[in-house]
Amino acid sequence: MAETPKTGGLSHEKVETNNFLMIVLILVVLLVGGMVEILPLFFQKSTTEPVPGLKPYTAMQVVGRDIYVREGCYNCHSQMIRPFRAETLRYGPYSLAGEFVYDRPFQWGSKRTGPDLARVGGRYSDEWHRTHLTNPRDLVPESNMPAYPWLEKTPANAASIQAHMNGLRTLGAPYSDEEIAKAPEDVKGRTELDAVIAYLQVLGTHRK
Ligand code: HEC
Repeated sequence: MAETPKTGGLSHEKVETNNFLMIVLILVVLLVGGMVEILPLFFQKSTTEPVPGLKPYTAMQVVGRDIYVREGCYNCHSQMIRPFRAETLRYGPYSLAGEFVYDRPFQWGSKRTGPDLARVGGRYSDEWHRTHLTNPRDLVPESNMPAYPWLEKTPANAASIQAHMNGLRTLGAPYSDEEIAKAPEDVKGRTELDAVIAYLQVLGTHRK
């Protein structure tokens, strides 16, 4: 039997027979690997700069987006088209990081009980959404999406929109003072249903 060669210092055998050392070294590898993968994303142009033509959400779209989050639409709908042929054939061009720079928080999701909505904007008429959100079964008989009949009857919240847009501006959304000043006017007198539809109709439309 060949004799195991003697190695000094941190031999493999030492690492493999010492649980504590093994754990520490694994953690070091994960930390360094993680930093190498994640840190550049904060500085890379393709992940931090908006795609050409991307605009921050209008007042009505911001309100609609809040309702989308409140109602938990993300529990059944993703907003992230992956770069696979089956997905791009069904949903359109795959999603780019630069399309989401004004999304706070993003609504990528990971559960698809219903279809991905990343490019649903413009796919249906406002009237279609109106009927669908109020009772999906009127349009898609086999649908298991919940009905949201109260959206039509609830006024959109104009009271907090300026604070909300100011917050988004602090985080980088390029709103002008004028846009924020007239935001309550845009929202007043409209319903939550109008707001959700305004939001849905802009999704994915910035990338031609
Ligand atoms: C329990 C899961 C579930 C929830 C929650 C849900 N949906 Fe759906 N949604 C579906 C399913 C399933 C479909 C496909 C059948 C249909 O069109 O109704 C669908 C379809 C859609 C479509 C049509 C998409 C397309 O490309 O045809 C839109 C738009 C939509 N949902 C918006 C919403 C919004 C907005 C909310 C939140 C207010 C919501 N959904 C909540 C399950 C859900």
